[in-house]
Amino acid sequence: MEQRIRTRLAGRERDGLLRKLIPVDQEKHGRMRAGDKEFINFSSNDYLGLSSHPDIIKAARKAAGPVFGSSASRLMTGSTGLHDALEQKTAGFKGKPAALVFNSGYQANVGVISALCGRGDVIFSDRLNHASIVDGILLSGAKSFRYRHNDIAHLEELLSGERRKYRNSMIITETIFSMDGDIAPVREIVSLKKRFDSLLMADEAHATGIFGETGAGILEQAGITDDCDIAMGTFSKALGSFGAYIASSGAIKEYLVNTCRAFIYSTALPASVINASIAAIDAVKKEPFRRTALLANAAHLRGRLREKGLDVKGESQIVPVILGKNPETARAGEKLREKGYWVTPVRPPTVPKGTARLRISVTCDHTRDVLEKFADDLCDILEDRAWDTRNLRS
Ligand SMILES: Cc1ncc(COP(=O)(O)O)c(C=O)c1O
Repeated sequence: MEQRIRTRLAGRERDGLLRKLIPVDQEKHGRMRAGDKEFINFSSNDYLGLSSHPDIIKAARKAAGPVFGSSASRLMTGSTGLHDALEQKTAGFKGKPAALVFNSGYQANVGVISALCGRGDVIFSDRLNHASIVDGILLSGAKSFRYRHNDIAHLEELLSGERRKYRNSMIITETIFSMDGDIAPVREIVSLKKRFDSLLMADEAHATGIFGETGAGILEQAGITDDCDIAMGTFSKALGSFGAYIASSGAIKEYLVNTCRAFIYSTALPASVINASIAAIDAVKKEPFRRTALLANAAHLRGRLREKGLDVKGESQIVPVILGKNPETARAGEKLREKGYWVTPVRPPTVPKGTARLRISVTCDHTRDVLEKFADDLCDILEDRAWDTRNLRS
């Protein structure tokens, strides 16, 4: 066994796929440290800079009180008044009757999908959905079909051919795709879910706090909150805290409290984390300038890179530059690091084979000067190398 593991690791190293844990220290204003060097951080999901917001840190400290840990799962003795308060606040924020807090987004997706779907049911899932959705589907035992990314015609074709053969049906999509930064055609998906009598589950991990009039996400922006049965999201990205939620009907929440193993058999988040998430929702509501600045920054960087001839995808704060090959993408990441930028190269299996990329994550704290210099430096690095030419239009 040990020998097989070593051989596999060597294979990963050869293919440019070996990952290493690098200890870093997060700093404010879109910066971080690794060793004795400071970097501008373009790999953080702290899009709104809320993880260093004084109100959120104060809320965490206040709730830590004389006891830190929650000591048990929610159904044992781990459920505090703050958990209820966060769930009520989240439900209000998302415009749904109820919400349920999970310890992480991974746990929420795996737990909810496998609790709601089972043998005899069918799931239609976007091909680029997050690993936690893929794992939830596998665990559920339901029959599943993956439709081509954001391809409504393909989804319709699959629903037409397959839906009627199964008992219950669920369509699952991210609303902002984590590695591509593009937006799901949610209105069209809603029409199909109604036509084919399916539930809709939408993962708003990268949309929560950023899109929509109050920052609730893409469902709010598209005006389809009521049509989405399960809106999942995280407190750990734009909200700068930790944990996740689903917002749904009261019946779905109650059913999950009774059947969702990822919820039932896991210790509750501590009160300090819960109170920080409450403060984070308040900050999103009170400080809309953060999401306005974030989206303006992202549009600015995307515009600059496109002006310079780079084929940049997406339409959100996630700005992917697809280079294709794994070792070259890793090398581009190293070159950027030498210039003081932290952009983690993203390779398979996180993204499909042949689409290794630099996933540039913009925050509201990046200044225009930083973004302009970064765009120049990135293009210089790519132009210097023969391997990048596929990504340059001319
Ligand atoms: C789309 C999506 N869903 C779920 C998750 C999991 O969330 P968490 O980091 O809270 O486990 C992530 C995080 O990477 C994500 O990008």
